[in-house]
Amino acid sequence: MKTIYLDNAATSFPKPAGVSDRMKTYMDSVGATINRSVYGSAQDAGMVALQLRERLARLFHFPESPTHVILTSGATAGLNLAIKGFLRPGDHCLVSDMEHNAVMRPLVQLEGVAFDRIPCDREGCLDPADIPPLIRPNTRLLILAHGSNVCGTVQDAEAVGTICAQHGIAFLLDAAQTAGHYPVDFAKYHLSAMSVPGHKGLLGPSGIGALLMTDAFASQLTPLLAGGTGSASDSELLPSFLPDRFESGTPNIPGIYGLEAALRFVEESRVELLRVHEMKLCWQFLDGLRDIPGAVLCGTEDLKRRCGVLSVDFPGRDNAECAYRLEAEFGILTRCGLHCAPAAHKTLGTFPRGTVRFSLGFANTEAEVAAALAAIRTVSEA
Ligand SMILES: Cc1ncc(COP(=O)(O)O)c(C=O)c1O
Repeated sequence: MKTIYLDNAATSFPKPAGVSDRMKTYMDSVGATINRSVYGSAQDAGMVALQLRERLARLFHFPESPTHVILTSGATAGLNLAIKGFLRPGDHCLVSDMEHNAVMRPLVQLEGVAFDRIPCDREGCLDPADIPPLIRPNTRLLILAHGSNVCGTVQDAEAVGTICAQHGIAFLLDAAQTAGHYPVDFAKYHLSAMSVPGHKGLLGPSGIGALLMTDAFASQLTPLLAGGTGSASDSELLPSFLPDRFESGTPNIPGIYGLEAALRFVEESRVELLRVHEMKLCWQFLDGLRDIPGAVLCGTEDLKRRCGVLSVDFPGRDNAECAYRLEAEFGILTRCGLHCAPAAHKTLGTFPRGTVRFSLGFANTEAEVAAALAAIRTVSEA
């Protein structure tokens, strides 16, 4: 049976042509590390890392130097660095009611740091007007999941960022579900920092991501890792300059090559056009789902406020069994459960049942969405 991959929110598949070739080229023919040695192939590898930072900076309208694009092992690593490196005992932080555990788990680990949740409605949407009353004199950071990995709601990051700027609060965006799917504008959103994974909408391999940050944010950030950087080697102190200060140890160089190749595809395809394609499929899905009484959408139908992450509840049935049947009988690959975001499910009213999540990508087609809808109908009826 042919499978239909609808789990792009977990990780994107397939990757664009050329991504794996580029990683193989590095492994088979380059092999050098970056920032350490001066022979030709090591310098070539260093150039690829620089090109990757430049591509990320361009894609996200990043106003600072590409040196402030810190390469990480993924969105989780970037969020941990930003949260644990920035917040200090006595600080207060604000988070939305829709955060992923990549934000909540590091936050609850911090002793002496208080936080409040900004409420979201039953569609997972935050009203920026709810933020100012929650701000305290010691509020230093606001963290927001730009796109929900549970129901696809995209928050108004520009309005939230404007409030943060007015109150002198640093603004950290978790763009794990919007990077590559939705036009993200670091400058327009007044961001202090933003964490992205390479393996979702940016279409690269897993094990690579980036934390982009302003110089003001970086100057208040304590590195979580210390080690060799290939620079300032006369000292046992970490260098003060970026990216080295936050990039100790040898990075994931095959990942750097793969993500750099993937970003060429994303840039050439243009995020705006990738979004048009995904929203066309999203609309087809939403429209079809309305005619299936046994399957209920969780989240908004408003395309302007969402990305292609679609959560469905099968009332009266076991959602995990429905996901199993979708694969076993129809080859449709989804994710069921709580999607690492218990708070979001409490907001949406789907805790602890969870949902079956269908998430779209650039390679999905109308025929695949039609097949998914037919399968959902069958599973919801029999
Ligand atoms: C909203 C959100 N934030 C953070 C992450 C963590 O990303 P990664 O597992 O690539 O580090 C995910 C992953 O699903 C996510 O959906």
